[in-house]
Amino acid sequence: MIVTIDGPAGAGKSSISRQLAEALGFAFLDTGAMYRAVALLGLRAEIDWADTDRLVELTQTATINLTGSAVFLNGEDVTQDIRTQRVTQATRYAANNVGVREQLVKMQRAIAAGQDIVTEGRDQGTLVFPKAECKIYLTASPEERARRRVSDLAARGESVEFQQILEQQSTRDEEDQRREVGPLRKAANAIEVLTDGMTPEEVLQKLIKIVGRCQ
Ligand code: C5P
Repeated sequence: MIVTIDGPAGAGKSSISRQLAEALGFAFLDTGAMYRAVALLGLRAEIDWADTDRLVELTQTATINLTGSAVFLNGEDVTQDIRTQRVTQATRYAANNVGVREQLVKMQRAIAAGQDIVTEGRDQGTLVFPKAECKIYLTASPEERARRRVSDLAARGESVEFQQILEQQSTRDEEDQRREVGPLRKAANAIEVLTDGMTPEEVLQKLIKIVGRCQ
């Protein structure tokens, strides 16, 4: 069974999806982490972002492994490194690169093959797994999402302005929605969950119920 969870930045998808996978005994795939890892590759190689073919080449020769909650890039644990503001800002170059998307979508389908999985991102229910048995669109108001992101970054020791995060988030949302390949969109048959005012535990319980009804 494939459960897709799509939605905008900061809707709390990663942590809830991970917990949902654990509760169901399913594998978990954080596809945003893959785009972040490719951005980190580009940053480290100091590539010219206008050279889109170079980033595709780097992606083809890299190994990205997602094991449990850790992310390994060419064998190195980059779990923390891919969450910095610098990488978040550069991820657009990976996400907007059609060749990179092609590579990562292929990897995502290979990972999901033959196992029960909760997969989380922007295009999972629409483009990557259009036949998924259960599709969820998880969202929250822009302010609520920005508040969560500020506190997440603070917990990691990065101090940021709420207003700045809100603006960056709105730019990211627009870019995610306007993208020609794999844009953020609610799949026609996805169930929308608006998480404003809900605790993570309440969201988790709601998702468990939704998946129960899909089975
Ligand atoms: O979910 P997360 O914030 O970690 O994703 C980082 C970025 O990767 C997003 O802003 C989005 O642009 C991109 N992304 C994507 N397609 C996915 C998952 C993430 O384009 N399936």
